[in-house]
Amino acid sequence: MTIPVIAIDGPTASGKGTVASQVAQVLGFHYLDSGALYRLVALASEKQGVDIKNAPELGILAGKLSIYFEKDRIFLNGEDVSEAIRTEAIGLRASTLAAYPEVRSALTTLQRSFRQAPGLVADGRDMASVIFPDAILKVFLTATAQARADRRYKQLIAKGISAKLQDLLRDLQERDARDISRGTAPLLIVQGAQVLETSDLSIDQAVKAVLDWYQSAIA
Ligand code: CDP
Repeated sequence: MTIPVIAIDGPTASGKGTVASQVAQVLGFHYLDSGALYRLVALASEKQGVDIKNAPELGILAGKLSIYFEKDRIFLNGEDVSEAIRTEAIGLRASTLAAYPEVRSALTTLQRSFRQAPGLVADGRDMASVIFPDAILKVFLTATAQARADRRYKQLIAKGISAKLQDLLRDLQERDARDISRGTAPLLIVQGAQVLETSDLSIDQAVKAVLDWYQSAIA
């Protein structure tokens, strides 16, 4: 029997991480935050002084990442980088290097290795299109740019990180444009995906919608 995967893709700050991890928790499934891997490459390459334009070097680095996950903490070379990878600067760097085919292919096997019994909920940009094309359920989770900027702002402020709403809105529009227009694994709604517009939904409502679709998919 193949291990079921629920693929949840969508633009930056659409709430996919929160929804995906809660769905995984309810079902007792594993959870893959694929964006965290791109962020780890961004952080590691910054620490090592690799030029953001050097795609081959970034690809090599992505293939050699020394990382491990422990509950919701992420370690890079033994150092807890759970907070360090969440800054806006690292997010922007991640979105730039995520456009390089060398980096994406170096992370493919690692991402697929998260598919373990009893199941996996994976969130990202290309979970349904490239990494798990046989996912039993494909969800495209989105919200308006303004709603996403508001959410990101609240998240950062709650963590004690200062932020300006206008800057966040501009950054996320830039990131959307880059994710959608890149040649390799662009952000797109695959055929058969369920689209979930969450601007006016609570987290609980979004989680319930995904769980209901999953029940229908396995029925
Ligand atoms: O927090 P946010 O949604 O902005 O980003 P993330 O999911 O943590 O991912 C960071 C960056 O990695 C994104 O801006 C994407 O460009 C890229 N990414 C990707 O290309 N493919 C994925 N499967 C996941 C993330």
